Amino acid sequence: MENKDTPIYTILAALYDSLMGDVDYEAWADFIDEIIQTHHPNPIDVMELACGTGSLVLSLAELECYNLTGTDQSQAMVDIARKKSNKQDAGINFEVQNFLHLEMDATFDAIFSVFDSVNYLHNPEEILTMLENCWKVLNPWGILIFDFSTPKNSLEAENYLNNDKGSAGNLRYFRESKYDPEQKFHYNLFKIEEVEQDGKTVLERYKETHKQRIYTLDEMLSIVKESSYHLIAKYEDFDLIDADENSTRVTMVLQCRKQQ
Ligand SMILES: C[S@@+](CC[C@H](N)C(=O)[O-])C[C@H]1O[C@@H](n2cnc3c(N)ncnc32)[C@H](O)[C@@H]1O
Repeated sequence: MENKDTPIYTILAALYDSLMGDVDYEAWADFIDEIIQTHHPNPIDVMELACGTGSLVLSLAELECYNLTGTDQSQAMVDIARKKSNKQDAGINFEVQNFLHLEMDATFDAIFSVFDSVNYLHNPEEILTMLENCWKVLNPWGILIFDFSTPKNSLEAENYLNNDKGSAGNLRYFRESKYDPEQKFHYNLFKIEEVEQDGKTVLERYKETHKQRIYTLDEMLSIVKESSYHLIAKYEDFDLIDADENSTRVTMVLQCRKQQ
């Protein structure tokens, strides 16, 4: 039986929360909240881009500080996020949106995107398109917060991500992870099997190839310089500490100083 090629975050969506079982989304939400409160005087409307299954925006909802929206290009991820939100009665508005083609009537005081989602943009032009799209839906003096992972992270992560495996429900996955330092692309190939209740008979095989462009801090700073934003901070990991070329994850904070 051949592995059916599926778009990213379709079949993997049902496995995603177990894949991220060790991630402390509450602490991450506290970090995003700290950034918003530090850099915006009166944040009310806040949107997460590429929210996945909504774990972070749901943790943020527990703080009861913001009107929250979560968006992601994957219908399967958004369906799971909505289900979790309804269960928690979190009152978050979820929409399927590709950040390369954002189409929204609402505007926001802060927009954020975490966990390497921006690394799915494969070149500076795509990042600039995402930045421009956010500019259109940010209120004057609104802030855009996004993180990205760096080559140092990929060099470290390649070893422990490669050959990773796991399961949830009737699905199990096997991951091959490879970083190409010359092209600065990180590939994660997920082979996924759907199995019968007996756990042995394989009903279907799928594969999702996740390709992420890994940016150095210098590269990202040059891209941001070409945009209309003001860079107001760049943080390392999960602290309000200035990032540098040795950082594995950088969280950028950009300000939209446009007229009303
Ligand atoms: C690593 S997951 C992170 C999800 C979530 N932010 C989290 O912390 O769990 C990357 C997410 O980026 C989304 N994504 C990738 N490309 C996108 C695009 N062009 N527009 C919107 N979402 C995108 C994927 O669907 C996926 O949900």
